[in-house]
Amino acid sequence: MAGNTAAFMDRCEEAFNAASRMQNPLVVHHYDCDGITSGSIVASWFEKNSKPYRLLTVRKVDSELIEKVKKEKQLIFVDLGSGSPAMDELKGEVVIIDHHQPQCKSHLQANPHLFGFDGGSELSAAGCAYFVFRTSVDLGIVGAVGDIQYPLRSLNKTMLDDAVAQTEVEVTTDILLFGRNSRPLLQLLSFADDPYLPGLTAHEDACISFMGELGIELKNENKWRTYRDLSQAEKRKLVSALAELLALRISPEAVHKLTGEVYTLLKRQPGTELCDASEFSTLLNACGRNDKPEVGVDVCLSRPGSYEKAHALLAEHRKNLREGIAFAMKNSQDLGKFLLIDGRGVIPDSIIGVVAGMLFPGQRNKPVLALSLEASGKIKLSTRGTRKLVEAGLNLSKILSEVCPIVGGVGGGHNIAAGASIPADRLDEFLKEFAKRV
Ligand code: C5P
Repeated sequence: MAGNTAAFMDRCEEAFNAASRMQNPLVVHHYDCDGITSGSIVASWFEKNSKPYRLLTVRKVDSELIEKVKKEKQLIFVDLGSGSPAMDELKGEVVIIDHHQPQCKSHLQANPHLFGFDGGSELSAAGCAYFVFRTSVDLGIVGAVGDIQYPLRSLNKTMLDDAVAQTEVEVTTDILLFGRNSRPLLQLLSFADDPYLPGLTAHEDACISFMGELGIELKNENKWRTYRDLSQAEKRKLVSALAELLALRISPEAVHKLTGEVYTLLKRQPGTELCDASEFSTLLNACGRNDKPEVGVDVCLSRPGSYEKAHALLAEHRKNLREGIAFAMKNSQDLGKFLLIDGRGVIPDSIIGVVAGMLFPGQRNKPVLALSLEASGKIKLSTRGTRKLVEAGLNLSKILSEVCPIVGGVGGGHNIAAGASIPADRLDEFLKEFAKRV
């Protein structure tokens, strides 16, 4: 997409001027990785400049939230706001830093969509917050990777160039399997979902024999080895064996998903998830999706003791995800135009979107719609497409913003990933209207 970079940067500067003049604003940010990183970028600027601010983490903008913040004189919304027409009701001073498709018409908005960029792939809220506040660029990279904007291009690439120039981030080409730095090799292979490794993913015994045949030790004395611990020769051997497996069992194209750009964060605690943009993003999602977004903010701001807390949440998050994915694999229904996962009562609403995104990676040719229950009794639903489907014209955000008003729900997001909340008794109607538009 050919956006207007100069006009976007001018808007970011305008947003900075307005936000930096605020006295003790309430910063309202989203609870996922991109929301935590973008909220933390704002927090970090206020802290560095010894200016008071308050943070409020939320899951969505709804009438309850609007009511709650209506009396605030100064508000900064990060990673949400643009997509909510209800924002127009706020009368105080409001700055929105967001990348969702804009539906609200008022307020000063720094949003790439308004300048011809796709906020779903060219810049996330964290990147937008970086261009506004020009601080903590490594968090901008983590937010983009967490919002699956990989590989970084367009405005994301401009931010990446800044990160490299500031020696905050190093870019190398390496294996893309999740957990390069922190997962034991056995888990690196048996939990691999992107790319999915036929015969190895979910087959621990097969992984043990595979590594045995390659002559790569899984343990060093009593300690499980990670990919990071391997010698260069061992890394090469493993990568070429996996490439051969993908070429033979999936397709020659699948090999391209095995290696690619990886982003190492140079100023974070070495040997932890915090050194790798992708692993850092999962750690933050684990905090947000387990109702502890404040721990994620603490980690982003390098507050003492926070990493250990986040690490414990990650273990819990991985367990929930494994269980959720196992359920979804067994219980997905093919409804013709899309796959339906009814996770109501089984998969928590906080991870339903992640589960939907991880289902049948690389082999899916239709969108996924996954259902879960909110504490309020409403249905929380998440839809996920693929890049190929989006290139062919799919826009899930547009579909949800058309269908939700028909059934009395609220929803939106991006063309490739969108979510909504609808009344429980309007599901059939929703499914019919959704199918009509996919
Ligand atoms: O909740 P889920 O992970 O499925 O959300 C996917 C995307 O849709 C997110 O970017 C989220 O902010 C957006 N969304 C929205 N309105 C909702 C639910 C989700 O804009 N009610």
